[in-house]
Amino acid sequence: MAIKTVGVLGCGLMGSGIAQVCAASGYKTIVREVEQSFLTKGLGRIDKFLAGGVEKGKLTAAEKDRTLGNLSGTTNLEDLKDCELIVEAIIENVEEKAKAYAILDGVLREPAIVCSNTSSLCITELAARTTRPDRFTGLHFFNPVPLMKLVEVIRGLRTSDETYRTVFAFAPSLGKEPITAPDRPGFIVNRLLVPYLLDAIRAHENGLGTIEDIDKGMKLGTGYPMGPFTLLDFVGLDTTYYIANIMFEEYREPAYAPPPLLKRMVLAGRLGKKSGQGFYKY
Ligand code: CAA
Repeated sequence: MAIKTVGVLGCGLMGSGIAQVCAASGYKTIVREVEQSFLTKGLGRIDKFLAGGVEKGKLTAAEKDRTLGNLSGTTNLEDLKDCELIVEAIIENVEEKAKAYAILDGVLREPAIVCSNTSSLCITELAARTTRPDRFTGLHFFNPVPLMKLVEVIRGLRTSDETYRTVFAFAPSLGKEPITAPDRPGFIVNRLLVPYLLDAIRAHENGLGTIEDIDKGMKLGTGYPMGPFTLLDFVGLDTTYYIANIMFEEYREPAYAPPPLLKRMVLAGRLGKKSGQGFYKY
């Protein structure tokens, strides 16, 4: 089945980035938010990013207009009925996702594929909450979506070969490099990244060095684009805490246990860049 129209559920940080790259790659893209105010904010984020790109000389004003011309927003899930592929990027809550899938199952055409951008939930479990588990995969993007090259493609136990091949081939059409990741907490990237970030917090708590020195060490000593504390603030401490808990629950290994400082920072509302303060002030 040829993919021409893509539906994106959620126009938050990830959803807006995903909608942007789909529209920029020539797909007619419909992004759905639950409330008009969230939609306006998300579409504004896309406009701002594209305007920044024009200013930096990364794209032309005509390319910006073409991308925006491919993009429309809605608050109505039924408006996604003609989409051949859906990328769901809403709140990380199985019941909320299942509610959206149930409506989509009622309106989508039979061969349409649904992908979840979840970073931590079980793909097989999400697929089981639809009437199309064979046409369901994980498709995990990275933040900031327009700049990060990777996507992880995750098969659930019941994903068909054809669905997997279609979704894997969809990624390069967005200018992304796909890898196959297992349906295990953290997939590949977070499985390796999250213990590293947690270890940096534990090491700091144990007196290894200041936040600034640990960041500088990892950035300049290993060529990482951001040190671990800058990256924690960027990803969000609440998001990291949430993923760590899911990984710890499943693997029961100390490497995934969130350190006490992380929990306390989340409880104090120091969530990173988005709340104005995390390990650094913004
Ligand atoms: N439009 C087009 N291009 C743009 C742009 C725009 N609006 N803004 C920036 N760019 C381009 C820049 O021109 C630059 O391109 P060149 O390399 O060709 O010069 C490139 O994007 C980088 O931009 P900047 O120079 O402004 O920024 P930077 O060099 O400081 O990089 C960053 C920013 C890409 C975020 C980098 O710091 C980075 O890679 N950080 C790590 C991010 C990361 O690890 N993300 C994954 C988090 S984990 C996750 O997401 C998964 C999960 O489940 C939690």
